[in-house]
Amino acid sequence: MKSLLMEAIFAPTHVGWIGGKAPGVGAVRTPGQVPPSYSCLPIVRPGARGYDARGERSWFRETDRGPIMTADFFTMQPGETAAPLPPGPVLCTGTAAMRRIHRFFLWAYGEAPGLVRSVRAGDTERAAYVGEVLGNFDKVLHIHHEGEDLLMYPQLKERAPACALHVGLMLEQHRQVTQRLDAIGPVRLRWMETADEETAAELAALYEDLSALLNVHLRREVTEVMPAVDRVLTEKEAAAVGQHGIKQFDKKFMVSYLGMVLSTNPPADRAELFKEIPPPVRLAYRLVGRRMYRKQYSMLFPGRPVPETL
Ligand SMILES: [Fe+2]
Repeated sequence: MKSLLMEAIFAPTHVGWIGGKAPGVGAVRTPGQVPPSYSCLPIVRPGARGYDARGERSWFRETDRGPIMTADFFTMQPGETAAPLPPGPVLCTGTAAMRRIHRFFLWAYGEAPGLVRSVRAGDTERAAYVGEVLGNFDKVLHIHHEGEDLLMYPQLKERAPACALHVGLMLEQHRQVTQRLDAIGPVRLRWMETADEETAAELAALYEDLSALLNVHLRREVTEVMPAVDRVLTEKEAAAVGQHGIKQFDKKFMVSYLGMVLSTNPPADRAELFKEIPPPVRLAYRLVGRRMYRKQYSMLFPGRPVPETL
């Protein structure tokens, strides 16, 4: 069963599990019409559980039964402007897919500094475990941006030249993320070996800095750029962006990762995403993958209730 799950996850036709059909695909929006995700929703409830200091992780709040959706994190902020929408119909579900994977990154990097701090000085066994999981997060993030740099942004710039400024802005934000990941790598490896206090403080600060950057980039890419991408990439091309580099990942991590992506998305997206997964994989996930996800979550966050997934 395990190998069936692995095969199915890595088979090219099945990797749409980080994607999904977006409502309204195929609908023609008149030029200048504001997409629903641009509307100003009440998002900030400072101090509420599950919100960061800026209220930016406001799409969910933690409950004993896991995170529940309250409002949309992916809402443009004052001063931000969407890329001009190219004419023509929506061709792909890129925005929906991007929201789902970005929610995972927001969660992962929101937790990363605390995970580093959760390791007692000198506990090299836990540092090695936590450091390996964080290293996988970093690799997923790097490969995710690499896929966009190769398979999304050049195509957007060529097919919708009016989006060039936004493409430049996003690529610059990717460069800043890469710079931070490059700085994190050696510190993380050193910490995994020593688990010393000083390196832990340095690593936690580096992850905090990266998380702050991602809180801006992950929102702006979805709100300002993806509606234009939906009109220039075909469904097949958009799927290729999500598939980029997927075979490079450790299979055990990938199984737990499916649980993490599901649990960090609101119930409706979770269900939508799960519908895209072929029946044998759904069964295998229920039999094997979900348990692996729960075990990993409990090891990462001892004593915390495991968030709901499917
Ligand atoms: Fe992205």
